Amino acid sequence: MPRLLGTCGALLAICCAAAAAPAAAQQDRVIGDGRAEYERHCQACHGDSGRGDGQMAKILVIPPADLTVIAEANEGSFPFWQIYAAIDGSQEVSGHETFQMPEYWARFREEETKPGYAAAHLRVLVLTHYLESLQAQ
Ligand code: HEC
Repeated sequence: MPRLLGTCGALLAICCAAAAAPAAAQQDRVIGDGRAEYERHCQACHGDSGRGDGQMAKILVIPPADLTVIAEANEGSFPFWQIYAAIDGSQEVSGHETFQMPEYWARFREEETKPGYAAAHLRVLVLTHYLESLQAQ
């Protein structure tokens, strides 16, 4: 009997590992897509690491936000939908909806009709997940 239990345990461990692998791959893909959008649209102001130290930072009137401390500023939890809304422009945040922080939703909506572009909400979603992944532990 103990041997049988041991075999079951080993099988269970193999099954769990097999199930976890695709989930991890999906996660890497979402974060990777978010990173690609970030590099194209956000890095110039918010910087490579998201700390607000991009090339454009020195010429902006309002310095770009440090995107790695969002969770820290919200009692340790990342306000996912609030950040989603900040990126798509539906929630006004200081510095948004001015030239300081371009309105991505309008731009993404315009592009989604063109071949090769993902739907606007998916692009904002992967960006939000990417920012979530940047939060300092
Ligand atoms: C032209 C410069 C510029 C670009 C490009 C830019 N931002 Fe910003 N961003 C800002 C400024 C300025 C602020 C406001 C900082 C403040 O008020 O403290 C800001 C604020 C934010 C905030 C609010 C942070 C908070 O703590 O509430 C988020 C989230 C954000 N940006 C995400 C992004 C994302 C994602 C992109 C790319 C899709 C992007 N930004 C592109 C300049 C920029």
